[in-house]
Order: sequence, then structure tokens, then C-alpha cells
Amino acid sequence: MTEYICMIILSVSFGGNCLDTHCQGYLCCSDLCDITKDNPTSPLNETFEPLNEKFEQCCMRASQKTWSGKEKELLIEYIGVLGKSIVVDPDKFNDSNVYKIEHIGGIMTAIPSNVCDWDRDTLLEVFLQQVHEFVKYWRYIVQIDFSFNKLRKVESLNCLQKLYQLDPSHNKITHFKNTTINQLAHLRHLDLSFNEIMSMDPACISQPTQNVFYANFGKNKLPVVDVTNAFSVNPFCHINYTSNLIDKFVNEFGFTLDANKTYGPGFVSFNFNNFRTFPDFQSLLGLSNLAELGQLVSFGFDFRGIQLDCDCYLEPFLSMVQELKAFLWRDYFNVACANPPSLQGVKVPNLDPYDLVCTLERDADCPQECTCIDRPSTNTLFVNCTNLKTLPEFLPNSTLSRSISLKLSNNDIQILSNKPYLYKVTFLDLSNNLLEQVNDDAIAVLENATLHISNNVRLTQLPQRVQHRNHCITYMEGLHLTYGCQELWIENWLKVKKCDTEKLFKCTIPDLGIKEAREFSC
Ligand SMILES: *[C@@H]1O[C@H](CO)[C@@H](O)[C@H](O)[C@H]1NC(C)=O
Ligand SMILES: *[C@@H]1O[C@H](CO)[C@@H](O)[C@H](O)[C@H]1NC(C)=O
Ligand SMILES: *[C@@H]1O[C@H](CO)[C@@H](O)[C@H](O)[C@H]1NC(C)=O
Ligand SMILES: *[C@@H]1O[C@H](CO)[C@@H](O)[C@H](O)[C@H]1NC(C)=O
Ligand SMILES: *[C@@H]1O[C@H](CO)[C@@H](O)[C@H](O)[C@H]1NC(C)=O
Ligand SMILES: *[C@@H]1O[C@H](CO)[C@@H](O)[C@H](O)[C@H]1NC(C)=O
Ligand SMILES: *[C@@H]1O[C@H](CO)[C@@H](O)[C@H](O)[C@H]1NC(C)=O
Repeated sequence: MTEYICMIILSVSFGGNCLDTHCQGYLCCSDLCDITKDNPTSPLNETFEPLNEKFEQCCMRASQKTWSGKEKELLIEYIGVLGKSIVVDPDKFNDSNVYKIEHIGGIMTAIPSNVCDWDRDTLLEVFLQQVHEFVKYWRYIVQIDFSFNKLRKVESLNCLQKLYQLDPSHNKITHFKNTTINQLAHLRHLDLSFNEIMSMDPACISQPTQNVFYANFGKNKLPVVDVTNAFSVNPFCHINYTSNLIDKFVNEFGFTLDANKTYGPGFVSFNFNNFRTFPDFQSLLGLSNLAELGQLVSFGFDFRGIQLDCDCYLEPFLSMVQELKAFLWRDYFNVACANPPSLQGVKVPNLDPYDLVCTLERDADCPQECTCIDRPSTNTLFVNCTNLKTLPEFLPNSTLSRSISLKLSNNDIQILSNKPYLYKVTFLDLSNNLLEQVNDDAIAVLENATLHISNNVRLTQLPQRVQHRNHCITYMEGLHLTYGCQELWIENWLKVKKCDTEKLFKCTIPDLGIKEAREFSC
């Protein structure tokens, strides 16, 4: 089985604000992590894997700690049958130490009650002494491993100001709050994988006080992800959302990118989720165009293993590639379509933008009698209807295409009147209908549209405003006009310009019978 890589590296510049104010001696976070520095040639010349490796190595270096191996271990003591616990030190407190708490594969249901004093349970009165004693340890704890327990939630850990690594993976956490670790400027590694997280507050890892380098939310049950959890405002290494149920991004609190900042660099994995379309970052972040994203963010999204729908929503990305080729890694679009069947297996770089369409349904305002196909490469929504007696009241509002091509030939429509969508129509085919009436205001709105009204046997008159139309884009074959034919404007209108494939209407004139329009003169 081939795995395709879908990477977006929109720009690989790096601003260099490497958290200096937070380094404070024992975390070396210099030279994170300009992968272009060792690759002075265009990043297009390299494939993803070696560059990714370089980035990883440099990230590991950058997040190195100086105390490694010297941490002193604290112990967990259970204080109830329901999995409550406190942390204890078998020795005396020594402020030249750093401490870690490791309790793997236990039955803890909550963070120990004396960590940040979140627990207000009266039971604790028995342990008041230990609880009080432990406060002085808070600022010396650098590492916590509570993997393979039964934690259901995690309260604020913000008292652990020097915490560097937090691992509550393989627990039963269902929700992650943005007040749990938001003040922990030293926290570099967060592993929440293999929990049951179904929801996350916005801004869990991306507040300006935070410098999380590695965050793993893999193997959870997240259905959506807020953009503020998809990257950090500070440089980061890897955010992992592999194997969730994510099918869309949201932006709950209207986060916007600061045009004076660059974001990242870093990698974000969305492998094996339920995405079927590329996220629409333009509307999510309120950008005026997609290229703006490339100027502001410099990180990679990895969409390997998604079942990509090659539909109309992909089209703007293909267009962006044309504009931004220089900033994109070659592998970005090395992903194959899963749908529609006609494009299955086609790799994105080989797609013809013309083939990227969406069929809009009734819930998008496409009338039951119509098919509505949005084809952004032509900037047009194509609508084709049958069994109509009147013009459709509404048509879909496409966000991708500006124009509408409306094919209504061979229906039983009697009146061409103005409708709210008519100003977008650039092509209207009403031939072979039962038109009796063509309204002046509709003709006004359709001034520049191609108009077919041929073979409407009941149509005997047209509003004079027709004379402002270019008759080369007005198809009126097989009409028998009566009223109006004597009027001068028709003769003048036809004289202005001869069209190549001219097929005109006939006029029925009292006393003279039926005449071809061009033969007619007053
Ligand atoms: C604290 O630890 C330091 C370094 O490990 C050691 O030199 C010192 O003697 C310890 N102090 C006490 C009171 O145990
Ligand atoms: C944290 O989440 C809460 C609840 O969703 C939200 O109201 C708040 O704005 C978030 N904080 C930040 C800094 O975004
Ligand atoms: C992301 O997390 C999952 C689950 O822990 C893991 O299997 C996967 O290897 C991680 N991906 C990367 C690129 O580290
Ligand atoms: C960006 O910087 C320019 C010039 O320094 C400043 O005028 C502008 O207000 C800044 N914009 C934001 C959103 O901070
Ligand atoms: C319009 O729709 C009808 C019925 O679905 C179909 O037979 C016809 O080919 C379509 N015409 C165009 C131009 O798409
Ligand atoms: C489309 O736009 C029109 C006019 O702006 C509006 O009345 C209509 O509700 C919109 N339809 C949809 C499905 O958004
Ligand atoms: C038709 O095109 C002309 C010239 O571009 C423009 O001035 C006019 O407003 C257009 N009419 C309509 C109804 O859009």
C-alpha cells in the first residue's frame, strides 16, 4: 500500500524569536529550527522525509534539558478506594533538586490532590500536613508521567511552573481545558494520546505564555479542531492529531492572524482522520486570499491517510499552487483522490482544475427539478432544470463561483421575470418554452447575459429595452412577433451590427403577413 504525503509548507522563513525570555538557563532553545539554513537551494529540490528528519533532529536538540537523569523521584500514595492520591517524598525536601513523579499503570482517577491544591474534598483534612508540606515542591517538579492510569479529567497544573514534560497518555480523559497548562512557559512535551478526548477548549496550547514543542492528541475521539489548537503562535515542533475523527476546522472565537507576525515553524499531523476536503483556511481565518496564509504561517500539515474528495473545494488550492509554487514542497500535492469515482486514484498534481466540481443539493437551495453543478475553474455555477412552469425562485449562493449559467430549455415557463439571482446569470437558455411575457426589469438585469428565447411560439412581444442588448448574444430564432414589429427600434437594432451566425425572428405584420425580421423595414 502506498502512503501519500500531503504537506503544505507555505513558507520556510523563521523569525527567530526563540523564546529567549523563557529559556532561563536550563532549556536550550537556540536555533530552532530553520530547515532552510542547511538547504540554501529551493526547498522544492528536497523530498519531505530528509527535511523532516533534519527538522526533528534540530527540534530534539532545541528542547533538550540539562538535568536529564538527575531528577529525584516522588511517590504516589492512594488515599481512598476511588483512585484518589497524594504525592509524597520519602526523603527531605532539597531545593537543589528537580523532581519527577512517575506512576505508570496505576489506578489514579484524578491528578494527586496535593498537586496545585485543586481538591476541596473534606477527606483531605486527615492529610492536611502532607498537603501543606508539598506546596514547596511545586516549583521543582519538571516531569510527570501518569500514563496508563484511569484519569478522567485534568485540573489546572499551573502551579508547576517548571514543568517540562507531562504525560497523561492512555487514560480516560474526555475534555481538555485551556486553563490546565496555559501558564506553563517551560512545558515542552505534552502527551495526551490514547485518551477519550471528545472536546477541547480553544487556545489549549497556543496562548502567548506557552511554548509547547510537542503535543500529541493522537488516538482520541475529537470530531473537530479549533484553529487555535492546530498550531502555536510560538515556534513548535510537532502537533499530532493522528487517528481522531476530525472532519473539519472551526474558529470558535474568531482568531485572526497578526499580519506582523510569522507563525511556526512546525509540523501538524492530521493523518487518519475523517477529512474529505481541504480545510477552507481563507474563510476560517478571514483572509482576503489564500496566498496571505502562506505569508504568515510557515508550518506543514500532513494529511497522509485521508480520503480526499477531489471536488470544487480543492480548486482554489490548485490555483494557489500555481501562484505559490516556489514556496511549496513538491510532496504537498502528492496525494491521490478517493472521490469522486471518476477521479479515483488521480494524483492531485495531475488534476485538471476543470474536473473539480461539486453537485449542490436541495439543502444548498438547488431546486428539486434542477441539477446544480459548481465549477469554480470557470467561475460558474451550472444549473439545468426540467419540468418547470416558472423560473426557480432561488438558486444556490456559491462561495466559489460568481456567475450562473442557467439552462431552462424545453420547460413550460410562461414569464421571464426578475429573480434575486438573475444579476449573476451570464447565460440563460429559455428556448422551447411557453413564454408569453418578458418583463422589462428582467431584460435590464440580463443586459450583458447571453439569452436564448428561440422557439417560444406564444411570445408575440418584447419590451423595447431589448434594443440595448447586443443582438449577437440574443437568440430569437422561430419567434413570431406581432405587436411591436412596426416600431422603429427593431429596425435600428438590427442595423447596428451583423452577427456571424445570424438566425432571426419573424414578424407578423398586418396586411403584409409574415416577414423575416431583417427584411422588414418601416
Ligand atoms: C541538597 O542537594 C545538594 C546536591 O545534591 C547537596 O550537595 C546538599 O548537601 C543537599 N542538602 C541537604 C540539606 O541535603
Ligand atoms: C478558553 O476556553 C473558554 C471556554 O471555551 C473560552 O471562553 C476562552 O475564551 C478560552 N480562552 C482563550 C484564551 O481563548
Ligand atoms: C502521532 O501519534 C500517534 C499516536 O500516539 C503515533 O502513533 C504516531 O506515530 C504519531 N505521529 C508522529 C509523526 O509522531
Ligand atoms: C503592524 O506593524 C505596522 C508598522 O509597524 C503597524 O502600523 C501596524 O499597526 C501593525 N499591525 C498590527 C495588527 O499590529
Ligand atoms: C440537463 O439535465 C437533463 C436531465 O437531467 C439531462 O438529460 C441533460 O443532458 C442536461 N443537460 C445539460 C446541458 O447538462
Ligand atoms: C442566498 O442569497 C440570497 C440573497 O443574498 C438570500 O436571500 C438567500 O437566503 C441565500 N441563500 C442561501 C442558501 O444562503
Ligand atoms: C453591462 O456591461 C456594461 C459595460 O461593462 C456595464 O456598464 C453595465 O453596468 C452592465 N450591465 C449590467 C446590468 O450589469
